[in-house]
Amino acid sequence: MMQLNNTISASITAIGGYVPEERLTNKDLESIVDTNDEWIQSRTGIKERRLLKDPKKATSFLAIQASKDLIIKNKVDPLTIDMVIVATTTPDMQIAATAAYVSSEIGTNNAFGYDLQAACSGFLYAMSMASGKIESGRYKKILVVGADKMSSVIDYKDRSTCILFGDGAGAVLFEPNNEGFGWIDEYFKSNGKDRESLCVKAGGSLFPATSSSILKGDHYLRQDGRKVFKSAVSAMTEASKNILNRNNLVGKDIDYLIAHQANERIIEAIADRMKLEPKKVLKNISDYGNTTAATIPLLLYDFKNQFKKGDKIIFAAFGGGYTWGAAYYTWS
Ligand code: ACO
Repeated sequence: MMQLNNTISASITAIGGYVPEERLTNKDLESIVDTNDEWIQSRTGIKERRLLKDPKKATSFLAIQASKDLIIKNKVDPLTIDMVIVATTTPDMQIAATAAYVSSEIGTNNAFGYDLQAACSGFLYAMSMASGKIESGRYKKILVVGADKMSSVIDYKDRSTCILFGDGAGAVLFEPNNEGFGWIDEYFKSNGKDRESLCVKAGGSLFPATSSSILKGDHYLRQDGRKVFKSAVSAMTEASKNILNRNNLVGKDIDYLIAHQANERIIEAIADRMKLEPKKVLKNISDYGNTTAATIPLLLYDFKNQFKKGDKIIFAAFGGGYTWGAAYYTWS
């Protein structure tokens, strides 16, 4: 897809976020699995993550908190919102869309809601969906939420995954912009050949949950970390460079890289290949770990006060599927 010739562009006008209070530090993990703080920090950049411990609370709880934060702090009338997209890979339930429940709970009673599942690329894809709907002129306010209770699919006996993930949510509101700022261009890809390298195997239609799948732990997230690492670096670099080239940009033109937070070394490898100065590379992985669909909106939430009108931002993500891509956005 190339840049659209359209007078309406779609831009972010409000941001909300939420992480649970409870912290799981690297020190805590030392007493759960055979690992240590030095290994985790040097290999991933993560110091702690937040966990939603209450078993009665699910991904919708995180999404609702982030959405309410956005609505209340920005004085948005929920009845003016047309559409709610929840990007998540840990929906409350199979079949019942989490977004429908979130929408009811936050009072967006004139909106329709659906979930978008593209693992760690979910929020990037959801922003694209929202932007397209705004650019069409048919919708005026779209709430895009990225929320994941990753702790619900993590095996806390598996040191290769349990150190990585945390729970959280972020939300943004997309509205029309008449000055040409906002979502400018995107380059998205997917390839399912390696899907078993990063997946939750059981519980879907291919391997429905059985007592044996539970005993084998197939309802937990498994990955071939080294393989995913290499794929993530090359795919996000290729997508980001493509976006730069076709918009006649080079690294020094960019104000911020907002990349999915899976591993600090992955983020630094992409930034290095894009020739970006370290201060332009936004990171919060040390505090939250990988919150899957929530990493990008949580970065927007944490750094929102430093963005200025016209700032040039590159978004990049890579996740299970595989799914990946990059987008070019100008701050409004
Ligand atoms: N503590 C201590 N040692 C460990 C740990 C741990 N937590 N985990 C693994 N090790 C050991 C391994 O057993 C191995 O030991 P060995 O050499 O004796 O066999 C050694 O450390 C090196 O293991 P590697 O897997 O090669 O370590 P690597 O440097 O690749 O780091 C990691 C592993 C952090 C998982 C990394 O590969 C990674 O971040 N991969 C990408 C993850 C990712 O991006 N996921 C995608 C997003 S998820 C989504 O889409 C839902």
